[in-house]
Amino acid sequence: MSESLHPRAMGTARERVDGWAKVTGTAPYAYEHRVPDPAYLHPVQSTVARGRVTEVDARAATALDGVLTVLTPFNAPRLRRDDDPELAVLQSDEVWFRGQLVAAVVAETPEIARQAADLVRVAYEVRPHDVTLSADRADLYKPDVVNPKHPTDTLTGDPDTAFASASRAVDATYTTAMYHNNPMEPHTTVALWHGGNASPALTLYDSTQGVHPLRDAVAALFELSPDRIRVVSPYVGGGFGSKGMPHAHVALTALAATRVEGRAVKFAVTRQQMFSFVGYRTPTIQRMRLAADADGRLTGISNDVVELTSRYKEFAEQTGLPTRTMYAAPHRRTTHRLAALDLSVPSWMRAPGECPGMFAPEVAMDELAEACGLDPIELRIRNEPERDPESGMPYSTRNFVACLTEGARWFGWDSRPRLPRSTLDGDWWVGTGVAGSTYPVLRRPGSAWASVRYRADADRGRYEVSIGAADLGTGAWTVLTQIAADALDVSPDDIEVRIGDSDLPRAPVAGGSSGTTNWGSTVVAAARRFRDKYGFTPTDGDEFAATMPDDGHAERFAMAAYGAQFAEVRVNVYTGEIRVPRLLGVFAVGRVINPRTARSQLVGGMTMGLSMALHETSVLDERLGFVVNHDLAEYHIATCADVPSVEARWIAEEDPYPNPMGSKGIGEIGIVGTAAAIANAVYHATGIRVRDLPITNDKVF
Ligand code: MOS
Repeated sequence: MSESLHPRAMGTARERVDGWAKVTGTAPYAYEHRVPDPAYLHPVQSTVARGRVTEVDARAATALDGVLTVLTPFNAPRLRRDDDPELAVLQSDEVWFRGQLVAAVVAETPEIARQAADLVRVAYEVRPHDVTLSADRADLYKPDVVNPKHPTDTLTGDPDTAFASASRAVDATYTTAMYHNNPMEPHTTVALWHGGNASPALTLYDSTQGVHPLRDAVAALFELSPDRIRVVSPYVGGGFGSKGMPHAHVALTALAATRVEGRAVKFAVTRQQMFSFVGYRTPTIQRMRLAADADGRLTGISNDVVELTSRYKEFAEQTGLPTRTMYAAPHRRTTHRLAALDLSVPSWMRAPGECPGMFAPEVAMDELAEACGLDPIELRIRNEPERDPESGMPYSTRNFVACLTEGARWFGWDSRPRLPRSTLDGDWWVGTGVAGSTYPVLRRPGSAWASVRYRADADRGRYEVSIGAADLGTGAWTVLTQIAADALDVSPDDIEVRIGDSDLPRAPVAGGSSGTTNWGSTVVAAARRFRDKYGFTPTDGDEFAATMPDDGHAERFAMAAYGAQFAEVRVNVYTGEIRVPRLLGVFAVGRVINPRTARSQLVGGMTMGLSMALHETSVLDERLGFVVNHDLAEYHIATCADVPSVEARWIAEEDPYPNPMGSKGIGEIGIVGTAAAIANAVYHATGIRVRDLPITNDKVF
């Protein structure tokens, strides 16, 4: 754009446009939309991990005052399509995992529904179950692709020979735990059928990362035209991926609501139920091998990943991906093998692939640095690739080294003692660690549409910018306002963004840290076309819609964000208690559109990474086949006292290729590498190398 009439809105720390509504409690979340005379659903969950429902006795439940209907596998309405076993709720008597939805009560109040659900008696034919993940299972299999469509295995050169002849090597197995997504707002679906049999239509108020993907999935279940379904989701209290794909509760609520046509059915999933059917991160077992010459130059790198999926539906986390692209080496290999277990299906959780997949390589690099007698930052700099090792393409920008060197300066890395177990401060061993972060720039040209419409109000003109985007609390409302303001060259106060409704122009999921790229590029395209057509003197009602153009940059450049994470830890000599007094993340994420909301994303990701490193783990009782610590009292998440100082900084990065704003995704990179930085700092403090997350007191004591 040439000369600007207004100060640029992008790059300013604008307050959240939705902030006032949220802090005053007037922003409606899914459960809070006002619908007349709602009914309430409470599910019955399977108490066995594998088998068949043989009988459901609902007499006591049905007899309860206020119960409207009880759905079972034997009486539930049939879905028109049941080829997605995760969404085909109550369509068969098969039990795939403990906690599966096997019946549901709809009643006048949530309390009655819950009490009645307790009274439903379910009989099972029980079969033996198996929920044990291990790398030596004989039935591990190779999936066709890993999430979403990456090759399962890659091989370049001859890594085994490189390992056999290496002068310095690391060969170790690293494990990450099972983790459950726990956004502040649990999943909720409110479903209302109207229009009668002749012309059925469905409105869903849902807590979702994508109104259009959800609408299309539900339309397929009922074989309805998507335009018969409206999904409304203006505010979302977090998702971390678990609201990116529809899960069983959405299908169950829509199905149950067919029984009470004309009344909305509300299903607010409880915190405990969230540990059963809304997805989780698979545990991973990663055999990581590095080979290097005496100067620390990598000659071979491989990661052989073992993880789990469910028996009824496959989700293969792309854990090996970062090993493919992070460092250069002539001989490289990655593989993924899965165990199909009697558990619910895993799914997306913040930075699926990169998050667990950077733990092994970034701890292994720390081990290699020691084997080579090199500083871990120097080792990484020596292995900085000139081109993307996987595709051979040049980078649009890759400022990993700058993140490392700037971060070292800000963190005070130079004063670090070379040897581990060197610093004792009272009763505490003190150490520091570093690890790299990366997250790809994902883009889907043509996937989104946006419209710009001018409205001449009495006092001033305003531009309505409409797109079916989702704001999970990330700041999408706000940055889209800033992007639109600059693209139209007006003040952000003259922009009214409309998102979170499938009646708005089509938009892809808020996932893969790609929301701002996909939606923002589309808004810019629509704004430019609007100006081309109507100039700066539009009249009331002037409107233009456009889709996200394909600029072809993804075919010419490897595009990713990078970061370096620095951690200081203190480990108690007597108890093994681990504290992290200081975390610093330095990121190269292109242009930062809003420093306030960006900082929040990066700090949030780092905090979640700290939580992954030290606190979180879903504990499976293998005898019963379920996660026993299924609430926030026992599934420990880092609290304020655990994170005294988490600081996110970024370096100036100009990159015109990812999108017209010059930004890269920031939602996920903050969690990538954090756990490795902390594990490396624990080693530096204590001399004990912990390769299995979470790092608990017993492992350093
Ligand atoms: Mo993110 S796990 O791609 O929502």
